[in-house]
Amino acid sequence: MPRLYSNLIGWGHYAPENIVTNDDLTKIVDTSDEWIQSRSGIKQRHIAGENDFTSTMSTEAARRAMKQAGVEPEDVDFLIVATSSPDYITPPVSSQVQDQLGLKCGAMTAMVGCTGFVYALVTADQFIQTGAYRTIVVVGAELISRNLDWEDRTTCVLFGDGAGAVVVQATETPCGLRAFELGSEGAGYEAIIAYCPGTAEPVTHERIDARRQYLRMNGRAVFKFATRTMGESLQRVMDKAGMTPDDIDLFIPHQANARIIEYAVKKMNLPPEKVVMNVDRYGNTSAASIPIALSEALSEGRAKPGDTLALIGFGAGLTWASTIFDLGTTLTETPKRAEPKATVISGDGVVEGLIA
Ligand code: UT7
Repeated sequence: MPRLYSNLIGWGHYAPENIVTNDDLTKIVDTSDEWIQSRSGIKQRHIAGENDFTSTMSTEAARRAMKQAGVEPEDVDFLIVATSSPDYITPPVSSQVQDQLGLKCGAMTAMVGCTGFVYALVTADQFIQTGAYRTIVVVGAELISRNLDWEDRTTCVLFGDGAGAVVVQATETPCGLRAFELGSEGAGYEAIIAYCPGTAEPVTHERIDARRQYLRMNGRAVFKFATRTMGESLQRVMDKAGMTPDDIDLFIPHQANARIIEYAVKKMNLPPEKVVMNVDRYGNTSAASIPIALSEALSEGRAKPGDTLALIGFGAGLTWASTIFDLGTTLTETPKRAEPKATVISGDGVVEGLIA
């Protein structure tokens, strides 16, 4: 069997309409625009409306990615949804998304915190390399605002809701994952945690009264972990790929905090213009942050066919994941049933349609 690679052929993202600014938050908790911006770089975030759910946001992002790729539901062989805020603990939200998209394939949910999308993309790539599946939809989605304690200023100002998705498809032309690293330091599991509901802390009135259902974060511990891990993991994955920062066209780190990203940029001497940052507009959207940033970069023509990307995630677990991913320059195979769209690179550098 010829060697198979993952070609990223479609991308899309969705963010709820409702935008909440830092000033809006000053009416809810004792905080200020100055504190939030100086500590995190966040100016605003999208917050889900009553008709938004993790499943519906995932479906919308995936639908946009599939439409752009010219992939029909029957072309999709597998679906992975990365999230830590599923509609329900059971069933897996991926099955709801599979149904909403009209897919006739297997579906799984990856709960790996903010790192989930990179874990899911690497997993999809393994299925493609073995020839098990040809076309896979990978989603990162998070409706974190319903899991936040809106009386806790240390967490509620930092997060936002949204979803991003990509379609990857097998090709014989070299592209896709060059190298990856998936990491976990479970000893730090309490640094980002929602205690209840779960089998360790089933729901009781006492636990609800104690607000054990909401996300808690030891910000300083996570900050230390993130600044250490981001640089080290990126370096290791570049070493694996035999690359230096000069060889990378675009760095897309998890958008948790501008200060964490700036620290890594300085420490690793990365050119700031090659580093994607949209945390100011979205806040920390956890598993959705990298696919939203990736989708925006592709839509704006900031990531182009043939580019080499570095994706770096870190978060709950504590976990981290990094990959070096080449965007394809040629789509060598057409979708099984759908007609491929022509690629249009418009005058302003916006890439539409398939990367071909
Ligand atoms: O995606 C998952 C990964 N998560 C992350 O990467 C988050 C990593 N951590 C961080 O980004 C930062 O630690 C935070 C942004 C969460 C906090 O920044 P910090 O510089 O570490 O602040 P701090 O927690 O040390 O708090 C400093 C002060 C405290 O007051 P005292 O004890 O010095 O009097 C807090 O009570 O700021 C206070 N504070 C606030 N003040 C105004 C905490 N939250 C707020 C707030 N508004 N929202």
